[in-house]
Amino acid sequence: MHVDAGGLMFSLLAYAQTSVTSNATAGVRHSEEYCAMYGICGKRSDGKYLNCPFGSPSVKPDDLLSSKVQSLCPTITGNVCCTETQFDTLRSQVQQAIPFLVGCPACLRNFLNLFCELTCSPSQSLFINVTSVAKVNNNLTVDGIDFYITMLMVKGYTTPARMSSSVP
Ligand SMILES: *[C@@H]1O[C@H](CO)[C@@H](O)[C@H](O)[C@H]1NC(C)=O
Ligand SMILES: *[C@@H]1O[C@H](CO)[C@@H](O)[C@H](O)[C@H]1NC(C)=O
Ligand SMILES: *[C@@H]1O[C@H](CO)[C@@H](O)[C@H](O)[C@H]1NC(C)=O
Repeated sequence: MHVDAGGLMFSLLAYAQTSVTSNATAGVRHSEEYCAMYGICGKRSDGKYLNCPFGSPSVKPDDLLSSKVQSLCPTITGNVCCTETQFDTLRSQVQQAIPFLVGCPACLRNFLNLFCELTCSPSQSLFINVTSVAKVNNNLTVDGIDFYITMLMVKGYTTPARMSSSVP
């Protein structure tokens, strides 16, 4: 399934004009406490941040990031796969959607969980594959991902769904 979600859902992920064929799979690992993407490797001219396409072990957040994550994403405890800049970007994206979801608290919670898991889950590499990278100012950035959505993230889904995203 190709997901576009009005550009909102994935604007925190990557985008660029030029796609490069490169070693998108270098360093790929699928395990608990391992990230598919970590950190910011570029910035689009419109100000959107682009994730780094490199796997890395999950990271223990400092107290400030930890309390920020807890307030928006209570299901995520312990290590994370997001930096503070990534998290702040997530939060500002999410805030734009809240007016559309206030009438449905369950939808809002599901929506937040999805964002939280995709962005910060310490086991991100278990359900996200970086499928496309792009070069921005000489840095490689994430241009597309495949990911699984499970019932743990979105209660309304009955079966795990495989989805792809390349950012508009
Ligand atoms: C991709 O990575 C592998 C292992 O890291 C390396 O052996 C290979 O040469 C790389 N391929 C390209 C096209 O960079
Ligand atoms: C390139 O990526 C590094 C981290 O890998 C980052 O420190 C640097 O700011 C990035 N450069 C640009 C132009 O975003
Ligand atoms: C990611 O890649 C692995 C191995 O290539 C595969 O088993 C897994 O199903 C992929 N995950 C997604 C979300 O496409």
